[in-house]
Amino acid sequence: MTVMRAVAYFSVFVSVILSLGTAQNDDCGPSTFTNKEGTISSPGYPQPYKRDTDCYYNITVWGASSISVHWNSAVDLEKEACNATLGGDFLYITLSNGTQMEELCGANRTQEDFTVEGDSLFFRFVTDRSGAAGKGFSFQYTANYSNGGDLNVFSVSKMFIWLLMVAFLNACINNA
Ligand SMILES: *[C@@H]1O[C@H](CO)[C@@H](O)[C@H](O)[C@H]1NC(C)=O
Ligand SMILES: *[C@@H]1O[C@H](CO)[C@@H](O)[C@H](O)[C@H]1NC(C)=O
Ligand SMILES: *[C@@H]1O[C@H](CO)[C@@H](O)[C@H](O)[C@H]1NC(C)=O
Ligand SMILES: *[C@@H]1O[C@H](CO)[C@@H](O)[C@H](O)[C@H]1NC(C)=O
Ligand SMILES: *[C@@H]1O[C@H](CO)[C@@H](O)[C@H](O)[C@H]1NC(C)=O
Repeated sequence: MTVMRAVAYFSVFVSVILSLGTAQNDDCGPSTFTNKEGTISSPGYPQPYKRDTDCYYNITVWGASSISVHWNSAVDLEKEACNATLGGDFLYITLSNGTQMEELCGANRTQEDFTVEGDSLFFRFVTDRSGAAGKGFSFQYTANYSNGGDLNVFSVSKMFIWLLMVAFLNACINNA
């Protein structure tokens, strides 16, 4: 019985760990960002990124009222092509309501820091097969809470769900 319970706890633990990050292809790194702040860079930054990649970086911070982005350096993508029809490398920035805010391309492009309303912001980095890769991009994001609180609602709710699952499994095993 004790062994069974240990196995049950362990499998819950593993499934919680796995659910924390969604894997994606290539060397894109994690695609899901839920912490209050973080750094997101193109694969291999500041070394040139790989050709033919498609990376997603979804920032969703529960309870946040706005998200600020601070660029660590100029955005440095393939210099030749800046026309999606002709190919090229692009960094797309999309607001939580689905509106595309930016479609960045070109070499050594200095970007303004910015703040958007809402608790989420989406980035997609697409590179084609040809041309010279640049350094890529790197930025820091910070979530802001209008209530002034520093409470990370997401980690509290994650902990709550975890406790519920453990209690549920415990009840199942005891009733078996
Ligand atoms: C978030 O990333 C996944 C890939 O990991 C992508 O399929 C999905 O469309 C993204 N969500 C948004 C809203 O951009
Ligand atoms: C992009 O390239 C296509 C195909 O050559 C051309 O029709 C289109 O006008 C170009 N768009 C821009 C914004 O230059
Ligand atoms: C999405 O939000 C932005 C900024 O608040 C706004 O300018 C845009 O019109 C919105 N788009 C839609 C489809 O609601
Ligand atoms: C990048 O741009 C800045 C300012 O726009 C310029 O001073 C610098 O020389 C450029 N660097 C390269 C490597 O092109
Ligand atoms: C964060 O929210 C506070 C309170 O609403 C506001 O004063 C501050 O300017 C915000 N900061 C950013 C970076 O949006």
